[in-house]
Amino acid sequence: MGFISILSYAHRLVSEQLQPGDIAIDATVGNGVDSLFLAERVGLQGSVYGFDIQAEALRKASGRLEKHMGDRHPVRWIQASHSLMKEHVPEACHGRVGAIMFNLGYLPGSDHSTITVPETTLPALNAAVDLLRPGGLTTIVLYTGHEGGDREAAAVEQWAAELPQPNFQVLKYAMINQRNHPPYLIAVAKREVALRR
Ligand SMILES: C[S@@+](CC[C@H](N)C(=O)[O-])C[C@H]1O[C@@H](n2cnc3c(N)ncnc32)[C@H](O)[C@@H]1O
Repeated sequence: MGFISILSYAHRLVSEQLQPGDIAIDATVGNGVDSLFLAERVGLQGSVYGFDIQAEALRKASGRLEKHMGDRHPVRWIQASHSLMKEHVPEACHGRVGAIMFNLGYLPGSDHSTITVPETTLPALNAAVDLLRPGGLTTIVLYTGHEGGDREAAAVEQWAAELPQPNFQVLKYAMINQRNHPPYLIAVAKREVALRR
């Protein structure tokens, strides 16, 4: 028996959450693997908002979507920081988003000079949990192998650990005996109904 990979586990959790017609956000588009996954889950009746600050990422991701889904797909590409997601996602969608995926770090295949940083990641995570519908899910894949990765992972873990228990469930999925800085997953589920304190 083997455990499924971090990225596959994030996809499994989101699959259980999203239905055709739902709204989803890819907070770090990169090469578009998660954008394509979200687009296939929500279908043409749904919407995916895809954020990245690098035009190169959005260009590559858009090519991936067109290759797999043609020119009709539900993703709207937004070249902006995910910390501004509330400003870019229409107000009518606030509180109605089913799943938001973060895959932090650098654009695979790039020179690693542009990385996600806690100064924008934490505001983005706060916006994300506000945008979620009750029962919605945010997944965060964290990397510690690059410079700055440890600092960001520590900040995100602290943020997640401090989310109020009556309103959120927080999961950590990690391969803890690997020595090569494997990525790990934090998933935040917004409770359908807040627990009584
Ligand atoms: C690890 S990659 C994402 C991989 C992607 N999920 C995929 O499927 O290929 C991280 C991405 O975050 C982007 N990024 C960095 N800072 C950002 C920010 N403030 N807002 C949005 N995206 C950001 C980078 O440009 C990079 O493309």
